[in-house]
Amino acid sequence: MSTHKQLVLSGMQPTNTLHLGNYLGALKNWVRMQNEMPCFFCVVDMHALTQDSGYALPKDVTRATREVAAAYIASGVDPKHTPIFAQSMVKEHAELAWIFNCVARLGWLDRMTQFKEKSGKHKERSSVGLYTYPVLMAADILVYKATHVPVGEDQKQHLELARDIAQKFNNDYAVPDYFPLPEPVITGPGTRVMSLRDGAKKMSKTDESDNSRINLTDDADTIANKIRRAKTDPNPLPENEKGLAGRPEAENLLNIYAGLADKPMKDVIAQFAGQQFSGFKNELAELAVTKLKPIADEMRRLMADSAEIDRILRSGAEKARTVAEPIMLDIKKTVGFVV
Ligand code: TYM
Repeated sequence: MSTHKQLVLSGMQPTNTLHLGNYLGALKNWVRMQNEMPCFFCVVDMHALTQDSGYALPKDVTRATREVAAAYIASGVDPKHTPIFAQSMVKEHAELAWIFNCVARLGWLDRMTQFKEKSGKHKERSSVGLYTYPVLMAADILVYKATHVPVGEDQKQHLELARDIAQKFNNDYAVPDYFPLPEPVITGPGTRVMSLRDGAKKMSKTDESDNSRINLTDDADTIANKIRRAKTDPNPLPENEKGLAGRPEAENLLNIYAGLADKPMKDVIAQFAGQQFSGFKNELAELAVTKLKPIADEMRRLMADSAEIDRILRSGAEKARTVAEPIMLDIKKTVGFVV
């Protein structure tokens, strides 16, 4: 039996603008969980430097960091109650990442599918940071001894690696149950939102086509147009869940509706059974605008005062450090560093 106090940690990369997948897969659950247990939410700016398309411009990293923080707040994370901070502001993340680099095995990282996808044919030219990215992610979580990590489905493998690292550290240093084995919290219909242009591809910040995703900053017309243009098939919507087999675009749009409406998928299927896509898309567009426009408006308002966002990040970092510092000190002693 684990003796660890329940604690949530999660983060998002400040690379481009957040999209509907980030919102339904993760953010929406964060907002709910902040009322259930203590939470820490960071903007993982150090991870943003790993991207394979070369270095992000410093001003883009700064802007995107503030924008991601604004998205957390606009979606309903309350910074007075829940620390929001930038990863680089709490140096313990980097310190623990180094120790974990010495715990994780090359073979484990070689299996990471996201590295394979992101490095593509150019593995040799990818940054070392992109390769060890999941090790830093494990440090983000375990430097707080977090027990729960709300994420989308694409992060599942990284969470398994974090558990493996925690377990190996506990074994190697003979400190049973020192680190908790963090649990992924992957729930709701939006755990894997797909591209609007291709139901076989994940909705992603880095897809070349902006029409493939709904950005949290899109205005009402853009949202409605993207939904109307979303790829579909020629058949009416299915009568039941079985009828979704081989129809990834229909499944994706129904899932998005379910996520935004906070309804079980089976109820949404029943609601639109046998209808044409055109009518359904109008309703989906209306729902998406109703849910997302207030978030976009609030993000815009917050972004107009970047000094206030920076204050929120610094104050969140201070709170985060009060938890991370003593844990890191203890870890240093455990591995034999003179402190
Ligand atoms: P990132 O920035 O790629 O994505 C942020 C969160 O959004 C989820 N997500 C999706 N969910 C559903 N459908 C999609 N199409 C979709 N795209 C993205 C992701 O699963 C994630 O929850 N490695 C992480 C960031 C990270 C982190 C951490 C997360 C760094 N350290 C510690 C948790 C704990 C990432 O790149 O997420």
